[in-house]
Amino acid sequence: MTDWQKSDWRKKPRVQMPEYTDETALNAVERRLASYPPLVFAGEARNLRNELAAVSRGEAFLLQGGDCAESFAEFGADSIRDTFKVMLQMAMVLTYGAKVPVVKVGRMAGQMAKPRSAPTEIVDGVELPSYRGDIINGFDFTPESRIPDPERMLQAYLQAAATLNLLRAFSTGGFANVHEVHKWTLGFTDSNEVKKYSDMASRISDTLDFMEAAGLTTETNHELQTVDFYTSHEALLLEYEEALCRLDSTSGKWLAGSGHMIWIGDRTRQPDGAHVEFCKGVLNPIGLKCGPSMTTGHLKALMAALNPKNEAGRLTLIARFGAGSVGEHLPRLIKAVEEEGANVVWTCDAMHGNTIKSSSGYKTRPFESVLREVKEFFAIHNAEGTVPGGVHFEMTGKDVTECTGGVRAVTDEDLSSRYHTACDPRLNASQSLELAFLVAEELSSRRTAMAQAKAG
Ligand code: PEP
Ligand code: CO
Repeated sequence: MTDWQKSDWRKKPRVQMPEYTDETALNAVERRLASYPPLVFAGEARNLRNELAAVSRGEAFLLQGGDCAESFAEFGADSIRDTFKVMLQMAMVLTYGAKVPVVKVGRMAGQMAKPRSAPTEIVDGVELPSYRGDIINGFDFTPESRIPDPERMLQAYLQAAATLNLLRAFSTGGFANVHEVHKWTLGFTDSNEVKKYSDMASRISDTLDFMEAAGLTTETNHELQTVDFYTSHEALLLEYEEALCRLDSTSGKWLAGSGHMIWIGDRTRQPDGAHVEFCKGVLNPIGLKCGPSMTTGHLKALMAALNPKNEAGRLTLIARFGAGSVGEHLPRLIKAVEEEGANVVWTCDAMHGNTIKSSSGYKTRPFESVLREVKEFFAIHNAEGTVPGGVHFEMTGKDVTECTGGVRAVTDEDLSSRYHTACDPRLNASQSLELAFLVAEELSSRRTAMAQAKAG
């Protein structure tokens, strides 16, 4: 890999990337970004890779979630805190409920460039270029706003840096201390799931009190006081990624300095394309979205290109087929992985295969389909004897109504009341918790079945 250059992607066919019209302005932005500090450090990316290696062996579980698209308008401490809180709650449900260590990765601090299914959109007879995420162009439906503006990359960098800064502060500054487990509940949620969470939090507090009484000091235990929280995003805008790429002096390898983990989207995973070329050369853990059109031939070629040394934790396959279609696609891809003897993490994105247009015209995802896809994912791994390593989802700590269903049933008509996403519909806090309880159940019954098989 020594001859790989961070600009090699420029020689490859690219899709889903903007055509910047002002090259001078673009180059000036690239130069400035290249002079800025990276957002993450190579040692952190290596730690995440080691944790993901444990996930690939079934010794830990990956929880990856956050916004579909972070926006400039919704940027603020409250939304970062609330998303972080929901992730902590979900992780606690899994750690306590399924007795498994959880690797926490936010779709945060850089998730701002979006692939689109159509290059233009039409509203009331007016056709304009599609919105591609705040790092590229504006959400407002005006011709000016839809022009790709390279300056937006600088704004995105600043937002990512400030987001990561707050996440680091929350992770180690006391907020994520397990003694605070009750305080992570969000004020506005009063569902059955929240009650279940709160009961569990009481049991955890009891356990901590017991440990203290027994002389096992938990107050000063570093593991209980802090969490490791990683960031991730789709590496779509390669000018931004290249500008933040840095040589790690300890290993002599290249680091994507934009986030801990980056992934390749379902629309940009051409084995000979620009996005794969860029991801090949960086040391970070790489995610690869696998939708229904992923062929076994492509998957094999991509595994060879992205993980030639077959290192555990390097490659995470993010299955996103849609409820009802997992049985058709996952077994054939699992077979391809097994044939190659490849070390991968299998995770389930239960969002992107389940997007529909509701009768009220909003893009939504029925929560039932999300849960069903997760169940199908587990059932197939259980049948194949492979490891269901994690879940990947779009959520927010805000009380939105974007996905229908859930215990506090959001209906088609409710969608308009609090529909705030800049891109895809997200789970709200109570739906996210419900998902976590389902996953904890799946993991526990899997553990029981495995223990029985071993004993019998
Ligand atoms: C996404 O994760 O927001 C996304 C666009 O996913 P996919 O590439 O799987 O469609
Ligand atoms: Co999305």
